[in-house]
Amino acid sequence: MSEKFTRREFLQSACISVGALATTAGATNVFAGELPKGNENGLPSVDVLIIGSGGAGLRAATAVRKQYPNSTVVVATKMMPSRNATCMAEGGINGVTDFSNGDSFKLHAYDTVKGAAYLADQDAVVKFCEAAGAVIHELDYNGMLFSRKDNGDVAFRFMGGASKKRCNYAADKTGHVLMHACLDDAITAGVKFLMDHELLEIGLEDGKVEGVVLRNIQDGQIYPVLCKSLVIATGGYTRIFYNRTSVPFIATGDGIAAALKVGLGFEDPEMLQFHPTGVQNGGTLITEAARGEGGYLLNNKGERFMKNYHEKMELAPRDVVARAIETEIREGRGFGEGMSAYVLCDVRHLGKDTIMKKLPKIRHTAMLFQDIDLIEQPVPIRPTAHYSMGGIEVAKFDDMSTKIPGIYVGGEASCVSIHGANRLGGNSLTDAVVTGDLAGKGAGAYAQNAKFASGKKTSELAKMWQDKFKAIATGEGGVNDMYALREELGKNNWDLMGIFRTGAKLDQLSKNLEAIQAKYDTLKVPNQNPVMNTAFTDYVELGNLILLSRAACLAAQNRLESRGAHTREDYPKRDDVNFLKHSIVTLKDGKLELSYKDVVTGIFSLDGKKPE
Ligand code: FUM
Repeated sequence: MSEKFTRREFLQSACISVGALATTAGATNVFAGELPKGNENGLPSVDVLIIGSGGAGLRAATAVRKQYPNSTVVVATKMMPSRNATCMAEGGINGVTDFSNGDSFKLHAYDTVKGAAYLADQDAVVKFCEAAGAVIHELDYNGMLFSRKDNGDVAFRFMGGASKKRCNYAADKTGHVLMHACLDDAITAGVKFLMDHELLEIGLEDGKVEGVVLRNIQDGQIYPVLCKSLVIATGGYTRIFYNRTSVPFIATGDGIAAALKVGLGFEDPEMLQFHPTGVQNGGTLITEAARGEGGYLLNNKGERFMKNYHEKMELAPRDVVARAIETEIREGRGFGEGMSAYVLCDVRHLGKDTIMKKLPKIRHTAMLFQDIDLIEQPVPIRPTAHYSMGGIEVAKFDDMSTKIPGIYVGGEASCVSIHGANRLGGNSLTDAVVTGDLAGKGAGAYAQNAKFASGKKTSELAKMWQDKFKAIATGEGGVNDMYALREELGKNNWDLMGIFRTGAKLDQLSKNLEAIQAKYDTLKVPNQNPVMNTAFTDYVELGNLILLSRAACLAAQNRLESRGAHTREDYPKRDDVNFLKHSIVTLKDGKLELSYKDVVTGIFSLDGKKPE
């Protein structure tokens, strides 16, 4: 390492190779001073394996190391540990820390349940909001660089759907700042990283987790890694809308797809959030904090059109604002045509000082993508796919366990269900840190009493994937076939399962997805080289995106009501009699099946009344 210690070197100091996890001296070196771990057959083994290095994965890993310092904990991640969708939650992290204005955990829970259009499980939401307050103090204590009020307290602002200001922030880079604080914490706690490793499959033995199959993207090796417990924290799947999403290219739902394949339920897959304000060119986020700080949305008549849609105007819940924008565009009050149509987000009246201090990131985004300085001009925006409320079904909020012993989930990959049919802005970072921490504690505790399995099943799966690589990465096939298919998938999902849905559109999508699946099944990857074969990664990701699109479409076709982000123009009303229930999609013998599970209610009434 050089004398001038760079951030990259700091990160790389925590990165290891799979060889180091085998029962050789490597294991002792990597986790110096700790018991050498390993499987009796010499397979790479780690006590707790975390897949995904966003806020949830990092918090899970840190929680294990802090609670069980002798445990070996490894985070496998497709990219650098610092690249993830957590950074795309810009506006802040919800959690009540100031009760002087009448705010309370209960009010936060009420807003969350109401914003969720009552599809959230109310018992989980109450626990979540109680944990949220404490977590802000914990992050602050751990050194997260929050913006401050004049008295030195952590600053907070309004976000959509909130009755009080409770969104704690670091300018408009909260996710980025939070993720780096969590990364520093994880590295300091002794967490190790397998960088550039993609998840291919999960292996089970006797119905319990045995390990996973990973592919090292750098050298192309595919191998089993055994674990006593596993945390899936791979984030959401909004890349199903390929070219119109705010999230990074890696948000392809790999963990959810792998979970489906071992029989776990995919809960509420149809609940996909469209953030109202993505930049017109490509969908990158213009944070809700722009509106939280007082920004306006304007149509082509210069009107603040939100006055016609909701009493909270620009600060209505996201589903309401997204529908309003699309309605303005549909009814001719937007600018431009087709996919390029837009309305304006105007923050000029906030003044240069506020923009520079509180919204510097979106100023940069507007310059980069639209060539606009929003100190002087409004920025063209349109809704963009942003968040997956659905995810892997959780058995118990307290430890984020699933129905499969040894498998835990956290963050956007999980559905517990806190966000129901529509997540409030600022609740995603809270979700990542709270559920990630719980999942880590659950997985850590489980590992204490578990043994490494034989690794037979996971080794077989690894061999199957090695053969698959040879069969698929043949160097044949058109260079653009796979990428054209990915575009086709994104366009179909956007046009037929976007903000406004109908039975006819969804039926059409279901047929189109079958055709897309059939084309996918004949694809070859036009690169044979195992080293840095990112085309093979794209191939695996596309397979996952198609599977998850089919699950979302199936649940959307059968939810004959409008609730939160799921707007059925042919069923415009919320139907609590028939659909106050979660969709659960499972995969059986290669076929997707749909069933339902009741929503947990009983704390807040369903008529929108505020609690006493
Ligand atoms: O608009 C935003 O800053 C997004 C925040 C979130 O998704 O929680």
